[in-house]
Amino acid sequence: MTQTQVDPAARTARRRSPHPGLPLGSPWPASARPGAGGELLVGGVGLAEAADRFGTPLYVLDEEEVRRRARAYRTALPQAQVLYAAKAFLCSAMADWVSEEGLGLDACSAGELRLAAATGFPPQRILLHGNAKSPEELRLARRMRVGRIVIDGLAEIPRLAALAIADTPQQVLVRVLPDIAAGHHSAVRTGVAGQRFGFRIDGGDAAEAVDRVLAQPSLRLTGLHCHLGSQITEVEPYLAALDRLVGLLARIRDRHGAELPELDLGGGHGVRYRPGDRELDLADFAARTTRHLAARCAEHGLSVPRLIVEPGRAIAAPAAVALYRVLSVKHGTDGRTFAAVDGGMSDNPRPALYGSPYAVRLVGRTSEAPPAVIDVVGRHCEAGDVLVRAADLPADLRPGDLLAVPAAGAYQLSMASGYNLVGRPAVAAVSDGRARLLIRRETVGDFQAREVGR
Ligand code: LLP
Repeated sequence: MTQTQVDPAARTARRRSPHPGLPLGSPWPASARPGAGGELLVGGVGLAEAADRFGTPLYVLDEEEVRRRARAYRTALPQAQVLYAAKAFLCSAMADWVSEEGLGLDACSAGELRLAAATGFPPQRILLHGNAKSPEELRLARRMRVGRIVIDGLAEIPRLAALAIADTPQQVLVRVLPDIAAGHHSAVRTGVAGQRFGFRIDGGDAAEAVDRVLAQPSLRLTGLHCHLGSQITEVEPYLAALDRLVGLLARIRDRHGAELPELDLGGGHGVRYRPGDRELDLADFAARTTRHLAARCAEHGLSVPRLIVEPGRAIAAPAAVALYRVLSVKHGTDGRTFAAVDGGMSDNPRPALYGSPYAVRLVGRTSEAPPAVIDVVGRHCEAGDVLVRAADLPADLRPGDLLAVPAAGAYQLSMASGYNLVGRPAVAAVSDGRARLLIRRETVGDFQAREVGR
């Protein structure tokens, strides 16, 4: 655990007089407000206080922000089924919150399925994904009686059909490749031609998968699925995907006389990482996709299928703030300043993987110093371990300072690694002025516990 440097007098002053100010606004959680002495309150809890209590690096997760975002989806898309994409970040509390708010779960591994099952997540509301599902994962999903499985390869069809349970056909969707480029980085554009996800529409692969599923009495085809990519901020790619998918629905109707009742548009809804960034406008997305779907279906004489959406990032990312302690400040020869913190690419690989930009803010003390351009770098011995490039931070930034990075709730902890045996950070939930530890810090003992030989 990182040694935190705490000034007891400052800590007491912070506790006594939070004096919350005006909300900070996006990309911070809606509850984020400045407090006295440079404190920043999230969910009514001071972040500097949370760092003192739980150590750093720390991920602070605002329960109400998760719930509010889950509710916003249900309100914006009352007819649709909203599945939280567990890959963004999953723990038992997160599963409870989204379940209580009426969402389903998009899972993509036996681990995610098992964790959800252990929390009592209603299996009917779970959908299993994966371009490489193992026979064991398919068996587990079937045993759990998950509501839907998305078929993403021909081999899965007979495999799944063989796992028949008497009188309960497995509901499946067929994933198609719509050939639409969308998303913040080529590494996450899964819906574009040449990708390995789903069946190609042109060339007949998707039609063949549909034929084969329909030939299996133990499978019930409920619809088509696509996922375009991630961190998409425009509605247009989704409308283009609807055109392609509804066209295929019409061809399936013509060929098989079957109108499929569901259409899953996947996730990918973009959020703000820095003030002024674009984000996907949920109300606009809801209104235009619903309208477009109805119009296209009318053109083809189809009844309108129920929409399914799978947002991950848009529910989890804005709900967490990552806290790091500055361990050293160095001035490079070319006028650059580096502030090295006690986390890095082992808890947030996104900047190294995709060059993802972030905002950052000094928390726990005020500074009159002028702003300086500072690279916030991680603790790992790699030049690419930069958490926030060219951040605007006070020029007097020094070891012991606390830095807060917003929009940290998605694809950070879920992609965190054991690099350098640093151990993955702790996660604390905040709500109504109280903080509670959800996940403790990973220790070297955890690594050693997995060793069974030498
Ligand atoms: N559905 C499917 C089938 C997916 O593959 C994904 C994400 C989602 C839903 C949820 O997408 P979201 O709403 O969270 O964008 N590690 C990358 C993102 C990878 C997304 C993978 N699939 C990043 O940090 O940007």
